[in-house]
Amino acid sequence: MAISDDKLDRQARRILRQNDRGGYTVPTAGLYPYQWNWDSCFAAWGFSSFDVKRAWFEIHTLFTGQWDTGMVPHIIFHKRADGYFPGPDVWGVDRVPHTSGITQPPVAATLIRSIYEQDKRYGRVHMELIYGRLVSWHRWFMKSRVERGMVAITHPWESGRDNAVDWDSAMAAVSTEGVGEYTRRDTSHVDPSMRPKKEDYDRYLKMLYYGRESGWDEEKIREGSPFRVADVGMTFIFLRACRDLLQIAMDLDHLTPEIEGWIAELEEGVRNHWNPAGYYDSIDLRSGEFTGSLSSASFLCWYAGIDNETMKAHLEDILQKVTFGVPSYDPRDEKFEHLRYWRGPVWGIINALIGIGLNERGLTQLAGRLRKDTRDLITEHGFYEYFSPVDGTPAGGDKFTWTASIWLTWAGPHAKGRF
Ligand code: GLC
Repeated sequence: MAISDDKLDRQARRILRQNDRGGYTVPTAGLYPYQWNWDSCFAAWGFSSFDVKRAWFEIHTLFTGQWDTGMVPHIIFHKRADGYFPGPDVWGVDRVPHTSGITQPPVAATLIRSIYEQDKRYGRVHMELIYGRLVSWHRWFMKSRVERGMVAITHPWESGRDNAVDWDSAMAAVSTEGVGEYTRRDTSHVDPSMRPKKEDYDRYLKMLYYGRESGWDEEKIREGSPFRVADVGMTFIFLRACRDLLQIAMDLDHLTPEIEGWIAELEEGVRNHWNPAGYYDSIDLRSGEFTGSLSSASFLCWYAGIDNETMKAHLEDILQKVTFGVPSYDPRDEKFEHLRYWRGPVWGIINALIGIGLNERGLTQLAGRLRKDTRDLITEHGFYEYFSPVDGTPAGGDKFTWTASIWLTWAGPHAKGRF
């Protein structure tokens, strides 16, 4: 018998409560035992549907990890936890709480605005406190990462799409010399065939060591790091975040010209992401070449406020080829693997972001399809980390925070998000 929607709502709320470690929410027990940046923003969004105070708490905890440079790291290691590699000792970041040395997709301004809009009276004081934090994070992006209007990543983990096809050519150029021995922990929690391969992992570590040896100095990393890619997903997410930050600024009566300037620069940058082959693409900044990959991140254009008919045609065609959209990589290409992490599987959070964009730009039928696919996958299989677009097989971690969150805020029948 199918599980009722009410029961799923209760399960989703329970997952958020159970993954709560006292002010921050782990993505899933075991596999990811710390606070991850964009996961945490989705967690806060989920909490806001039934406990807005807890939602703000999550956000404040995330920003305790913010560096003096403005950067908000991708992991905050609040408490000691076993079973994760690379932990705080490997990153070598000298501050408390300990953090990683790289960032993650800045969905914060967008999701925080959504929490704030739902509860302005209680939320105003929180919004005032967080506003300056958001501005300094965005300023850091503009200063340290935006090149020709595009957002550069210095490590695939920054993209949130760890082993996407987008990074293949840039990764191939990274030597694995001197990486040495290490023990992965992810493959003891989940099926190795669904995780990144060893040669990928060697390179992830090589880039991490480069950052650490550079003292996490952005100038040095820009000059010499073996990997630097303008990530189309990051550019779209950041452009969208700047638009939301602008709305927050106006609401709070802050000056806005600086943010308006950022938006104009990023809108120009979006043009540079257009691969003449006919889609939005990432660019390897070391070689200057397009990465030649049409991934789900390319479909974040509408979320960034950009319409594009060619992308719409791609999306419609791809959705005809799979049972459940949106596959994280183009199923028409030979590199597509339906169960390997970011090289094919469907991720609920990306569906939510794409769906929000489609809906706002008037493409409501397509948005409806994504919502239905996401709802069906969760109803049928539960709150997994990701799913096969071909047959819906659930994979990765179970009882996943962000999957529960987007059920409560976007995909589920009683969703209470602002979108
Ligand atoms: C993986 C995902 C990343 C996510 C993290 C925690 O590394 O690729 O996007 O933030 O797990 O869920």
